[in-house]
Amino acid sequence: MNFDRSLKIAPSILSADFANFGAECEAIEKEGCDWVHIDVMDGHFVPNITFGPQTCKAIRPHIKTVMDVHLMISPVDDFIEAFADSGADIITAHVEAGPHIHRTIQKIKSLGVKAGVAINPGTSLSSIEYILDMVDLVCVMTVNPGFGGQKFIHSQVEKVRILREMIGDREIHIEIDGGVTPETAPLVSKAGADVLVAGSGVFGGGSVDNSSVYGKNIKEIRDSANRVLE
Ligand code: DX5
Ligand code: ZN
Repeated sequence: MNFDRSLKIAPSILSADFANFGAECEAIEKEGCDWVHIDVMDGHFVPNITFGPQTCKAIRPHIKTVMDVHLMISPVDDFIEAFADSGADIITAHVEAGPHIHRTIQKIKSLGVKAGVAINPGTSLSSIEYILDMVDLVCVMTVNPGFGGQKFIHSQVEKVRILREMIGDREIHIEIDGGVTPETAPLVSKAGADVLVAGSGVFGGGSVDNSSVYGKNIKEIRDSANRVLE
């Protein structure tokens, strides 16, 4: 995985057909996505449950791009090895998920996987200031984690702008997660985000048998986000 700041669209399979993940991943890649975003929820850190490392491992052979695993679980440290073994390219843990985010990031990196840290809408950037040098990605949540299809929280755009300044020329991706549409995408791309996660915005209205809708949705988000960068 080479670093660059070009705009990337990462569909979240939270909005895909849960009985058909393999085909869904192949469909969104065929339709032009850059990364595949995998939302892991435990019913404890967030009020919803999805799946664990075995499902990630089963999905892996169907992903040729980047498998971007977002862990919304607490505790997190004891499960990192299993998610690394599942073949994740990036593992992102929440700064709010435990008292030892520094140790969590160390553990991810020690397994040879890129490390990300996610921050909730109500959490300040100061909480990640002292680990910025260790991470490959910061995921700014633009909804409260747990569910797809929620409304974008506009106050986070300013957070992205300040984070972009904090990062300077360090090779750290800024990822946005939640409520991404062709209307909200340009706000965050202009503020400095380079990875846009979109669940309902990509999968909405389409299916494996009608995957050109995915392509159309990806293109609309990408074009509107890139337009403000030209
Ligand atoms: C929220 C998840 C997101 C979610 C985004 O807890 O982390 O990845 O699937 O969904 P949309 O794009 O529908 O807001
Ligand atoms: Zn996510």
